[in-house]
Amino acid sequence: MTIKEKEFTKFLSREEIEKKIKSLARKINKDYQEKIPLFVAILNGSFMFAADLLKEIKIDCQISFVKVASYEEMESSGNVKQLIGLNDNIFNKDVIIIEDIIDSGRTISKIHSEFISLGSNSVEVATLLQKPKSKENKVELKYVGFEIPDKFVVGYGLDYDGLGRNTKDIFQLKE
Ligand code: IMP
Ligand code: MG
Repeated sequence: MTIKEKEFTKFLSREEIEKKIKSLARKINKDYQEKIPLFVAILNGSFMFAADLLKEIKIDCQISFVKVASYEEMESSGNVKQLIGLNDNIFNKDVIIIEDIIDSGRTISKIHSEFISLGSNSVEVATLLQKPKSKENKVELKYVGFEIPDKFVVGYGLDYDGLGRNTKDIFQLKE
């Protein structure tokens, strides 16, 4: 597959992804039997993973969608990340954040602490992909699909410059 003159080769097939999602869902169904989790999917990247995962969740649950907006703060030089679109009351809820990929882990740390400060009862993370760098991060990732090498991937919701989200398989940048 070629996107903007970059070559990508198939990395994870739709069958492998489907199988992994079923096994993640089995764990969640078991762990949350006595609860009614609120899944919060982080747009845009996680839309396909969220849809396929939720189809395998057999317990009562809720789902909501949020975006993470990044902006440069005027005073400090840090890149500030803010959650937008969180309309549900999450106080006392058992939240499961759905992410497509965790790279440095910076995004997920921000989101995680925001949920904690809003009074969630518990906050866990379900991510389809995890890159090695994130291991240095403090946030525990309870449900991880695939641990992958530090190479750029696209497809199945993940994009390269806004393109390539609309595939059933996941592709990796060819070196
Ligand atoms: P982090 O804050 O470094 O963990 O960044 C996570 C975000 O970076 C993800 O939600 C993706 O939007 C993006 N990202 C990181 N690695 C990739 C990749 O290989 N392909 C596409 N997007 C990526
Ligand atoms: Mg993302």
